[in-house]
Amino acid sequence: MGAGIAQVAARAGYDVVMRDVAQEFLARGMTAIDKSLQRDVDKDRLSTDEKGAILARIRTTTDVGAVSDAFIVVEAATEDLKIKGEVFRTLDEVTQPDAILASNTSSISITKLGAVTRRPDKVIGMHFMNPVPVMKLVEVIRGAATSDETHRRTRALAEKLGKMPLECQDSPGFISNRVLMPMINEAICALYEGVATRESIDGIMRLGMNHPMGPLALADFIGLDVCLAIMNVLHDGFGDSKYRPCPLLKRYVDAGWLGKKTGRGFYEY
Ligand code: CAA
Repeated sequence: MGAGIAQVAARAGYDVVMRDVAQEFLARGMTAIDKSLQRDVDKDRLSTDEKGAILARIRTTTDVGAVSDAFIVVEAATEDLKIKGEVFRTLDEVTQPDAILASNTSSISITKLGAVTRRPDKVIGMHFMNPVPVMKLVEVIRGAATSDETHRRTRALAEKLGKMPLECQDSPGFISNRVLMPMINEAICALYEGVATRESIDGIMRLGMNHPMGPLALADFIGLDVCLAIMNVLHDGFGDSKYRPCPLLKRYVDAGWLGKKTGRGFYEY
C-alpha cells in the first residue's frame, strides 16, 4: 500500500520519498507504480511524459533519515504494534517537530502510536484502501490527543490527493474493518464448516449483494495475515467472542498461504 500512497501523492504533484527496509521492496513498489500508471497511459488518460514526471517525483531509499524534511510521513509498515511503535519512535527523532506523523494502519490504535512520540497531537490515522489509486476513501482517525489542526491539515491533504476523507474516532478496527472483517471472517467460517464452496460463497456475495469481489477473494487480495491481525485487534480490543478469528484463517496463515502475494490463499494465483 505504501507504493500506492506514494503514487497518488506524486500524481498530485508532491515530491515523495518512499522508504523501505530493503532495496528489493522498493524495486517491487516502483514496478507496481509503473504498471498502475501504464494502465492510464494505455487508456489515453495520461501521457508518457506525465507518467515519467510522476515517477521522477518519487525518490526511493532505505535511509529513514531521508524523510527529515517531510511535512507529513505516512507510515505503512507491517500491521504489528511493536513494529509500528518502533517506526513512530524513529520518525519522531528524525522529522521536523511540526511534521505530521500519519499511519495507514487498518486497525491499530492511533492513541497508542501517538503515545510513543513527543507529539501525540500531530499523530493521526490516514487509512487508504486497496488498490490505493482506485479507491476514493481515506478513513481519517483521530487519536485521543490528535489536534484539530492536524485533523484539518490531513483532511486537506487527502482531498488534494483526490480522495474523500471520512472521519472516525480511535476504536478497534475503526469503521472500515469493524464492519468488513467480521463479514470476511464469517465467510471463512462458512467455508470451514462446509456450508458452501469458495466459488459459491463469493458468487453469492458478488451477484446477490453487488460486491465487486467475493469475501474470500477479497481476503486473498488484502492478505490473510493482515485479516488475521485485524481480527486479533478486534478480539482483544472488544474482548467479545464474536470477533474470534476462524481456525481456518489461522491455519492458512500458519501454512504461509497469505493470499495473492504468496500465490496461494483461498484461491491459487
Ligand atoms: N492501479 C490503477 N488502476 C487500477 C488498479 C491499480 N492497481 N486496479 C484496478 N484499476 C482500475 C482499472 O484500470 C479500471 O479502471 P477503468 O474502469 O477506469 O478503466 C478499474 O480499476 C477496474 O479494474 P478492472 O476492470 O481491472 O477490474 P475490476 O473491475 O475487477 O476492479 C477492483 C478491480 C477495483 C480491485 C475491484 O474488484 C474492487 O473494487 N474490489 C474491491 C476492493 C476493496 O474492497 N478494497 C478495499 C479492501 S480493504 C482495505 O484496503 C483496507 C484494509 O484495511 C484491509
